[in-house]
Amino acid sequence: MAALCLAACACTAVPARAQTLQVLHWWKSASERKAVDLVAQRLGEQQVGWHDSMVPSGSGVGAGIVLRSRMLAKDAPEVAQLNGSVIRDWARLHLLLELDTVAAAGNWKQLLLPAVASTIEYDGHVYAAPLGVHRINTLFYNRKVLQRLGLPVPATWSEFEQVAAKLQRAGIVPLAQSSEPWQVTTLFETMVLAEGVDLYRGLFQRRDTAAYSDPRLATALLRLRATKRWMGRPIQERKWADGVVDVADGRAAMMVMGDWAKGELIERGLAVDVDFGCAAAPGTARYHLYNVDTLSMLGTRPEARAAQEKLAALALSPAVQADYNRIKGSIPVLRQPALAKMDACARASWTLFNSGAAAQVPSLVHRMATDEMVRDAIVTEVHRFFLDDSIPVADTQRRLGTIARTFIKTK
Ligand code: GAL
Repeated sequence: MAALCLAACACTAVPARAQTLQVLHWWKSASERKAVDLVAQRLGEQQVGWHDSMVPSGSGVGAGIVLRSRMLAKDAPEVAQLNGSVIRDWARLHLLLELDTVAAAGNWKQLLLPAVASTIEYDGHVYAAPLGVHRINTLFYNRKVLQRLGLPVPATWSEFEQVAAKLQRAGIVPLAQSSEPWQVTTLFETMVLAEGVDLYRGLFQRRDTAAYSDPRLATALLRLRATKRWMGRPIQERKWADGVVDVADGRAAMMVMGDWAKGELIERGLAVDVDFGCAAAPGTARYHLYNVDTLSMLGTRPEARAAQEKLAALALSPAVQADYNRIKGSIPVLRQPALAKMDACARASWTLFNSGAAAQVPSLVHRMATDEMVRDAIVTEVHRFFLDDSIPVADTQRRLGTIARTFIKTK
């Protein structure tokens, strides 16, 4: 009995405080939850606890607000999901632990895809542990619905129009879409990319003034508005995972969304290339519009450092990379991942991403292309234009141009 009790106490013992990390993130859907739980469980196997602090907020705006207030209240978690430009903003303020020792010990420079390595670096130091790369310009479609109606997968926006009209006549919503600001702008950025990668880079990466008066920006904005007629009425502000359910159940035929939607479709029991397929969003097949999910360590409690470094090293382990990304819908951040363990969508995504910088396009909405303030302001303008048909396109173009000029660019 005593031995039994001892054994029980040993395995249920609450880990010492230094060995528990509070992790702030925004992953709430079923597949996101499952992916997080996998990392938490693997961390637990190394005797480090995961205290979950989830702030549901789609692309992470709410999580960012909560994190900033907690920092000001001196109540910061030890770990936070900070993506893209936000890593550099926080590193510049000396709020993040540099992970150079872990990165050197784990040979990250050799292991990581170069675009991922540069995302997590600032001023020569490493400030985040990368988990996976998502492809944003993905068109998901319900295979059975398209097959039943004998419809092709549209490769351009004009093909999309033809397919959409037939779907609508058959009583199926052509495109699942929420009116939530980040989801509207996620669709919009794929439409800008379809107008030309030079336009996209000029607008969102370089913020060239000339790009804002380019007629192709007007085309993309008007296309966004015109596509409303294929979205079903009313267009509700719903979570992205609700749109996935509509595609899964065949109420809607297609959805343009980051490939976290693939994770969710799989979690609902659907199989790639059987029940659903993934293709590039219309007109963007040559490009990989991406974001990288990362965890940064906050330098709030020196005694937590060893545990934080364990988590950073764990994120890059081949087993976590393969298992986490399979659930999440993303691809490993590695130069040599286990390709055989990936499904066809993931293999195509990794192959294109790995083909080099010309194909890689950082997402505006998911904070990879430019500063967060500019991103937020653009999202607001695009959302207003989408909702209110009375706003002239030239006004929105002018306002976007002003945003791009007014905010100072940070390095
Ligand atoms: C993105 C994030 C993804 C996914 C998505 C929707 O910003 O990178 O991992 O979680 O938001 O929640």
